[in-house]
Amino acid sequence: MATKYYITTPLYYVNAKPHIGHAYTNILCDTFARFHRLKDEDVFFMTGTDEHGTKIAKAAKDQGMEPKAYADQMIPHFESLWKLLGIQYDFFFRTTSQMHRGAVQQILKDLEAKGDIYKSKYVGWYSVKSETFYSESELVDGKCPDTGGEVQRIEEENYFFKMSKYRDWLIDYIQKTPGFIQPDMRRNEILGFLKQPLEDLCITRPRERLSWGIPYPGSDEYVIYVWFDALVNYVSGVGYARDAEQFKKWWPADVHVIGKDILRHHAVYWPIMLKACGIEMPKKILAHGWWTLSGAKVSKSSGNVVDPVGLSEKYGVDAFRYFLLNEVTLGLDGAYSEDLIRERYRTDLANDLGNLWFRTASMIDRYFGGKIPKPGPDTGSDALLSDAKALFSPVREAMETYNPRDALGLIWKVVKRANQYVEENKPWQLAKQESGKQKLADVLFVLADTLAHMACLLQPFLPGTAQKILTRLQLKSPLAAKSKSDFEQMFVKNDVSIERGDALFPKLEDEAA
Ligand code: MSP
Repeated sequence: MATKYYITTPLYYVNAKPHIGHAYTNILCDTFARFHRLKDEDVFFMTGTDEHGTKIAKAAKDQGMEPKAYADQMIPHFESLWKLLGIQYDFFFRTTSQMHRGAVQQILKDLEAKGDIYKSKYVGWYSVKSETFYSESELVDGKCPDTGGEVQRIEEENYFFKMSKYRDWLIDYIQKTPGFIQPDMRRNEILGFLKQPLEDLCITRPRERLSWGIPYPGSDEYVIYVWFDALVNYVSGVGYARDAEQFKKWWPADVHVIGKDILRHHAVYWPIMLKACGIEMPKKILAHGWWTLSGAKVSKSSGNVVDPVGLSEKYGVDAFRYFLLNEVTLGLDGAYSEDLIRERYRTDLANDLGNLWFRTASMIDRYFGGKIPKPGPDTGSDALLSDAKALFSPVREAMETYNPRDALGLIWKVVKRANQYVEENKPWQLAKQESGKQKLADVLFVLADTLAHMACLLQPFLPGTAQKILTRLQLKSPLAAKSKSDFEQMFVKNDVSIERGDALFPKLEDEAA
């Protein structure tokens, strides 16, 4: 039976159109999902939207709409962006779906039966922006510590979940499970947070103040706290309390990819909710950093949104994907600027990869009538081709440890090396001498096969470009190399006619002479 791989994105609030930060998470997840599909694993990639709570109720009200109708008309913004960016998800999850409501209510009933829920007065602070409760001591200058937004004082009867009871268990679990929270600095942040006493979690809102939520089971007076509801998606999306077989197949999730601002919800609330229900832990919580603009987090409320649609249309989806995946090490913040995208476009994409394709295909056209030449007996031990073939394990290792930037760095070393190889071997001079004919054939065969190997590795990152290269070389696409020895084979075949096609990364319109 094929290995399974279950990967999730956070559920995005529907109060605003998705921006570069949301696009980043989905591009990361899509890249990992594609990588695992190419390994022939059974992949389930889930993304979706978070539609309950004060923030959405308020956004709907501002538009004079009912919350559900408001959410409905926001969904196409997400679906169309994911389509544009080539995000191949398997399921789009909405917290307003009927199947989800059942799972959330079931979990609450289980927790009640276990004695982990009690009713009490909540006194504290609430931030609508992060939809999170804070104690007085957590506020920073009287504001929300995570978003800097306003907080409201709340004093009301609510239901509570006994999180405090599980604090020692969680500390122990995190300490004993390296890699559960990645990167390490985030793991340390959570261990630091857990040094303080852990407060129980207020998990309801009185309906008279907020009616937009999942009703609390057996009570007309309360709706369930939006984060409690939303986190359950990760199990309800794969059949929890609905389809035991499906749930058994996919759970535990292999990775929950999130941004660093929602770490506490995922690395404290969620594991404790699961533990209390007797459900297995997800294997990994992977927190990425923020995209910033002039030093501030890109966000709708700061009014500094960077529109992924415009950038993808201007530079191409693959260039946008490449920029996001390559610019920062996963986990760190990245300073966004359009100049940086242009720089990457001109150098790595157009100059290195695009040029390598163009010169190789042009020379095969010119010297061999567009057919891949027959290589001599020594081609197999060619140093460039050996470097290309040696990438299989390190690229795999980088992807399995969630370092897409390292994987791209390794691939680009060979792409650059291949361009040097052209300079060193000077095919145009070989073509002038009769004695250079075989060497010329060898050089062009090696370049074509190196490109095929690079395209094979690049499929998860730059799906459109990789597919172009593979189909132009008359190879199948997708091209899966399941093992090191598969990858060490020659991919291209001599005598096959290739198609040069247009430039992979054409000169930018505003730079064309
Ligand atoms: N609805 C909650 C998540 C519930 S998951 C069960 C939520 N939604 S959100 O729309 O506000 O944010 C979703 C994700 O986008 C978070 O992981 C957040 O870190 C990410 N980003 C929002 N702005 C970002 C940047 N500027 N840069 C990178 N990612 C950021 O939180």
